[in-house]
Amino acid sequence: MCGLVGYIGERDVTPILLDGLKRLEYRGYDSAGIATLVNSHVEIVKRAGKVNDLENLVALNPKPATIGLGHTRWATHGEPSDKNAHPHIDHTGTITLAHNGIIENYAAIRQRLQRDGVEFTTDTDTESLLQLISAFYDITGNLEDAVRFALSEIDGTYGIIVMSSKEPEKLIAARMGSPLALGINDGEYIVASDASAIVGHTRQVIFLEDGNIATLTREGYEIKTIYDEKIEHKVTEITFDIEQIEKGGYDHFMLKEIHEQPQTVLDSMRGRILKNHGTAKLGGLRDVMNALNSAQRILITACGTSWHAGLVGEYMLEQYARIPVEVEYASEFRYRSPIIRHDDVVIAISQSGETADTLAALREAKLQGASVIGICNVVGSTIARETHAGVYTHAGPEIGVASTKAFTSQLAVLSLLTLMLGRNRGFISLEQGVEIAKEFEAIPGKIQQILDENISEIKTIADSITESTNVLYLGRGYNFPTALEGALKLKEISYIHAEGYPAAEMKHGPIALIDENMPVIFIAPQDKIHEKVISNIEEVRARKGRVIAIVNHDDEQIESLCEHVIKIPPTTDFLTPMLTIIPLQLLSYYVAVNRNCDVDQPRNLAKSVTVE
Ligand code: G6P
Repeated sequence: MCGLVGYIGERDVTPILLDGLKRLEYRGYDSAGIATLVNSHVEIVKRAGKVNDLENLVALNPKPATIGLGHTRWATHGEPSDKNAHPHIDHTGTITLAHNGIIENYAAIRQRLQRDGVEFTTDTDTESLLQLISAFYDITGNLEDAVRFALSEIDGTYGIIVMSSKEPEKLIAARMGSPLALGINDGEYIVASDASAIVGHTRQVIFLEDGNIATLTREGYEIKTIYDEKIEHKVTEITFDIEQIEKGGYDHFMLKEIHEQPQTVLDSMRGRILKNHGTAKLGGLRDVMNALNSAQRILITACGTSWHAGLVGEYMLEQYARIPVEVEYASEFRYRSPIIRHDDVVIAISQSGETADTLAALREAKLQGASVIGICNVVGSTIARETHAGVYTHAGPEIGVASTKAFTSQLAVLSLLTLMLGRNRGFISLEQGVEIAKEFEAIPGKIQQILDENISEIKTIADSITESTNVLYLGRGYNFPTALEGALKLKEISYIHAEGYPAAEMKHGPIALIDENMPVIFIAPQDKIHEKVISNIEEVRARKGRVIAIVNHDDEQIESLCEHVIKIPPTTDFLTPMLTIIPLQLLSYYVAVNRNCDVDQPRNLAKSVTVE
């Protein structure tokens, strides 16, 4: 949430900042700005709107500089406007700062400083931190000390980059609850809220920890704690390539990421299936294997799409590994006094590994003594680092705000976990395990088949629902969470109201909505409740609802009942969501395109929600 980038080196800073902001724009995109030091004078260009708008503004009056910082915003305090856009400048016109996070005690600081005569010019919480740094700067005359003193008074979360026109050879970055990575190159440093803004310049990065303050000059860097103690950090090598964060010929990142799924699901499973033993091996869980094998209960916590993956996980782990599972919204988990026992295993699922609610939930679970596992996509992310053990999903960078390939990769990892625990706990036989393992290997090919065979029909269906105001998604068993995820995809990017329901639950309320204008999308592969789903389809038809269904290739029975069908290959029951979600992702994509919506940057959303 919010993108931050800062640079110090020998090169012209403006294109580096603008390029970085474009790469980070998926984190927030209601306003953007850059600050540079030109002849020891702070120059700020900022405005409401996208980074492209900022770029046009900057081009009107280009000024070369070699140190600067930039920000792309997702508003929390104060509406998106030119005035509230970051970077901000203090009342003396000396210090400039960009911030990601929330300053919780901003009002008290603001009142105190206003009493001292400081004039505030924005509605943001950030300005309180900036003016506080400025007050300390007045006393210390040293930016690093001023930042340190100010941060020690802050409640809340921050990733910040700061510079002062009086110390033009220095950039300071600090974090608490908001990610920051420091890219190290010959004679230059790039600090950013994630590695996508760095990888074009260097692969060597340090992921800063909470409470770290990094001081960067052209000669070197120093990382200290807020208490002024020097600390050493491991330099990590970024493993993804710049091509992975580009559109590669597709119109949108989301479409590219949908089409990547045969490969990303394969990558999630690569080296983890022991076919002859009918099981899976998840090396990252080595340290918690005993806890997992003997767990009396698994608690899964996550947000958004990752929460939907967790729901599928609940169904599969209970059916095949016979472990009681509870799935909880991370935002609820922490604040409702959950009962967590020492023999519980808590799984935090997060694409970004930075979602504030999920992080808070896992910290709560750790405090209460549970073993905590992460299923994360972003390597080195905070959740990945704070869990006792974890599995990376290896889906590669996901840029489209609506999550697609991260979801199927999470399902792949949860399926492997299910197979492994089912075998370890004696509920899946060797023969069954071997069959399941074979089916795993067939999944990427089946996803490819769905992509190859269905686009034209999906476009036709998209045309037929583009003007709809409501769409209902219905599924049962493993495909109830798929219905939720399908509905979420549509509302996120096309702004059509959509709801997912367990198909049979429809008669307890949503059926009242059904008339000839209501598209109802059934997810109906041939599983053990197939017949029941057919009855639900009849119930919709009886009320003149428009039935669209995702079915298996040879399912002629349902085909005759529907306005449209999308045909997919069959698979083992618990693996079906990895297939059934694909047409639903594509459908929402084409509807959003028809409606001229900004697919990759839907209104009000952000990719990585680092505020609670
Ligand atoms: C945001 C994103 C969603 C995502 C959710 C959880 O709302 O827009 O796509 O599912 O956060 O994110 P995480 O990174 O924890 O999976």
